Amino acid sequence: MLKNLNTVFLGHNFISLSEIDSTNRFLSQLLSENPPDGTVIMAEKQKNGKGQMGTSWFSESGKNLTFSMLLHPSFLQADQMFILSKMAAVALREAVQFFLPNAPVMIKWPNDILVEKKKVAGILIENQLEGNFLKHTIIGIGLNINQLMFPPEIQHTAISMKLYSGIDFPVSVILEKILEKTEYLYHLLKEGKTAEIENEYLRFLYGYQEVVLLEINQKRVESYVVGVEKNGQLCVQAENKMQKFDIKAIKWCFD
Ligand code: BTN
Repeated sequence: MLKNLNTVFLGHNFISLSEIDSTNRFLSQLLSENPPDGTVIMAEKQKNGKGQMGTSWFSESGKNLTFSMLLHPSFLQADQMFILSKMAAVALREAVQFFLPNAPVMIKWPNDILVEKKKVAGILIENQLEGNFLKHTIIGIGLNINQLMFPPEIQHTAISMKLYSGIDFPVSVILEKILEKTEYLYHLLKEGKTAEIENEYLRFLYGYQEVVLLEINQKRVESYVVGVEKNGQLCVQAENKMQKFDIKAIKWCFD
C-alpha cells in the first residue's frame, strides 16, 4: 500500500482497514499484542471516529485520511508531553503545505490545521504513562483531502485540500509525506533537539503575537496571544491581565 515510503521505522508495520469504529481505539486495543514502534493503522471508513474533548470526527469514506500512529517516547516526562502535540502539528502542517504550496496553512492552538482559517485536519493524541514517563503515545490524524461536502454544522468551518485547490489528491502519497515529516521531527525530539519544532510551531501559530477574539467564560474577549506554555496552556493578555488557559476553558471566535 505504501509504495514509496521513505522512513526508517514509521509506517513499516502498516495495517489498512476498510472499516473500523476508530483507528485510535483499534491501535489502543492492539497494544496488548505489543505492536512494533511506528505501527500505523489506517481506515477507509471510521464508524465512530473520536475527536478532541469527547467530540466525534466525521470523514467521508475513502475520500480522506484517518489514521493513527504508535510511538514509544519513553524519553519524555509526563509534563513534557505537549511537545508531541507540537511535533505532530508541525509535521502535518508541513505536509499539507507541501501539496498546497500557495495556501495559508496555519496551526490553530493546540493542534488543528487550518487552510484559509478553516479546519482541514485534527489531531487526537492519547498518551499512556509509566511512572512519570511516557510509555505509548497514539497520534490520531484526520485530514480532509478529497471531500467536497461537509455536514451543515461544520460546513462553514471545515475545508478539504480539494475544496481549496480543485485538485484530487492521492491519499497514500500524502500519508507517506506526513509519516516522513513526523519521523524526522521525532528523531530530533529524541535527540533533545526541540528548537525546530518550537520555532515552526510558533511561526505558523494562528494569531501568535496578534489580537484575536476568544470566548472566555461565555464572553467574547479581545486577547493578545503571547505564547504557549510548556504544559500546552495558551498564554494571552486579556482584560488587562496575563491569563493561561486549557483547551476546555476557551473557544476561538472566527469572524
Ligand atoms: C479533533 O477533534 O480535531 C481531532 C480529530 C482526530 C480524528 C482522528 S481520525 C483518526 C484517529 N482515530 C480517531 O478516532 N480519531 C483520530
